[in-house]
Amino acid sequence: MIVEEVERIDARIRELLDRTRDPVEAPSACSVNELLERAVLLVAGDTSRGKAVRFVSDLAATEALPPLALRRRALEGAFVNLLLNALDAVADEGEIRVATAVRNGADNVVEIRVSDDGRGIEPERLARIFDPFETGRAGGVGLGLGIARRAVEAERGALRIESALGRGTVATIVLPRHPTSTPEPARLT
Ligand SMILES: Nc1ncnc2c1ncn2[C@@H]1O[C@H](COP(=O)(O)OP(=O)(O)OP(=O)(O)O)[C@@H](O)[C@H]1O
Ligand SMILES: [Mg+2]
Repeated sequence: MIVEEVERIDARIRELLDRTRDPVEAPSACSVNELLERAVLLVAGDTSRGKAVRFVSDLAATEALPPLALRRRALEGAFVNLLLNALDAVADEGEIRVATAVRNGADNVVEIRVSDDGRGIEPERLARIFDPFETGRAGGVGLGLGIARRAVEAERGALRIESALGRGTVATIVLPRHPTSTPEPARLT
């Protein structure tokens, strides 16, 4: 029924926007590994889609990845959206990988990746996936990636999506390793 559909979408928008517009959320020390694992637990527990998806994590050692001062709720919302997009894209026996790594070179960033072996994105759509209301799935609103990008940029980080049609998609987030002392925002190389 149309009215229900509108209400459902509205609730979803509100929930996602609340997460990034929360004016009181201040950065607090948190572990990127822990945030990512929590997001995986949330999404893996969503059995409503009835898929036998395999989640594989390849996380940086905790000693290599000390806590960063981050807006944890907003960032967790971004991870959840990337994982839900991946879950939507994979077939019944797909695989979703999450990884964290520390890059200590000149860029000095923490890198977070969510990759899937799902349907991938047509090159001409890839250019528009961050646009509001650009959605390629039934029940999608098309706000998730734009909101995720803003949450990442609030940490002076960057979010990039690469995809090969029919093969899969990789979302990469980089966050500055030292948010308070980094003169330039983190760049994707
Ligand atoms: N991992 C992925 N594999 C395939 N397509 C993807 C992937 N991630 C994003 N997309 C495409 O990009 C579109 C936009 O994603 P986005 O998260 O912004 O919106 P959505 O998932 O459709 O809706 P929502 O606002 O609920 O997140 C998706 O509808 C989908 O077509
Ligand atoms: Mg989404």
